[in-house]
Amino acid sequence: MKGYPKVNYIGNKERIADAIMSAVPAYARTLFDAFAGGCSVSYAAKARGMRVYSNDILDINYQLAKALIENSGEVLTDRDVEDIFAGEPFCGFMTGNYADVYYFPRECMELDLYRRNIGRIDNGYKRAMAYALMRRAMIRKMPYSRFTIKWDKVRQLRDEQYSYEKYGRYRSYHNKSFRFHFEDNLGDYNSAVFSNGQDNVALNMDVYDAIDAVDADVVYADPPYAGTMNNYYGFYGLLDTYIRQEKTMPFANSFMDKDTIMEQFDRLFAAFGKYRCLILSYNSRSIPTREQIAGLLSRYRRNIRIQEIRHAYKVTGKEKKGKDIEYLFIADND
Ligand SMILES: C[S@@+](CC[C@H](N)C(=O)[O-])C[C@H]1O[C@@H](n2cnc3c(N)ncnc32)[C@H](O)[C@@H]1O
Repeated sequence: MKGYPKVNYIGNKERIADAIMSAVPAYARTLFDAFAGGCSVSYAAKARGMRVYSNDILDINYQLAKALIENSGEVLTDRDVEDIFAGEPFCGFMTGNYADVYYFPRECMELDLYRRNIGRIDNGYKRAMAYALMRRAMIRKMPYSRFTIKWDKVRQLRDEQYSYEKYGRYRSYHNKSFRFHFEDNLGDYNSAVFSNGQDNVALNMDVYDAIDAVDADVVYADPPYAGTMNNYYGFYGLLDTYIRQEKTMPFANSFMDKDTIMEQFDRLFAAFGKYRCLILSYNSRSIPTREQIAGLLSRYRRNIRIQEIRHAYKVTGKEKKGKDIEYLFIADND
């Protein structure tokens, strides 16, 4: 096992995954990652031999969890890659709906071909690996690595000369092919697949449905942070649309709204009551405040510890060093 590959998920906890794991109580054998995103915490828990339930409302994150957490041995061979890229690009769902919206028409036609070929892979883990790698390729070709950028801006930033003159960077990776990026990451994704001897599970549910479905010793919660860059449906919904070949809907419980977040957290903390320990990530720039969260948690938990971790988020290539304090709330009734 070579380790967690380049997923580059917005709001990921890759750099603090070890600190989060250190907060997991010694008795815990199973961990429920309720808002798994790019699965960095699920992966760290898997690496420590825990049985992991990895859930996210986005289908693309479910594919990542299936590929990297549930999958214990399936990798993509050269033959699989040939099959994924075989054939002639054609006008399908992506071209019909997203040409000159996120990618150039020819690129959408290529995506239509690759999607059809991936759909023909009969092994679900290999299929998930293919989606995970296609995601990586699609993100690499998209300025700012998210799908909330308007086409005019996308085109501008993909103009290498313009980008160089304006920002001092050519960003030539945006103009490399999907296949280039797919193959560039293939080795890392394949080497990230391993078995930890546990029956790990990927889930694709709203958090409340997942709570009904999952029993675990610890729940780790890393919801979108209200008041920050948190529009996950906007960032990545296009990838779900690509997988499902139909337009998907924004999530009903999005944890984005500053005005309702207190009620949403109250409901969430109550529902999390079934787990012996709750570990919650939040940060100092978001709403509610540290004190408000501690107050809400104390309705449901006797012991609450708060750890502070200095964490520089990487947003659009710039580091915001030292400005954010990442909190870890560790709450139980022991
Ligand atoms: C801060 S990110 C998690 C990042 C993750 N810990 C990582 O390291 O990559 C929050 C995640 O919550 C998910 N999410 C938002 N609303 C949800 C809901 N109602 N149920 C389940 N997941 C949800 C988003 O899709 C997003 O992936």
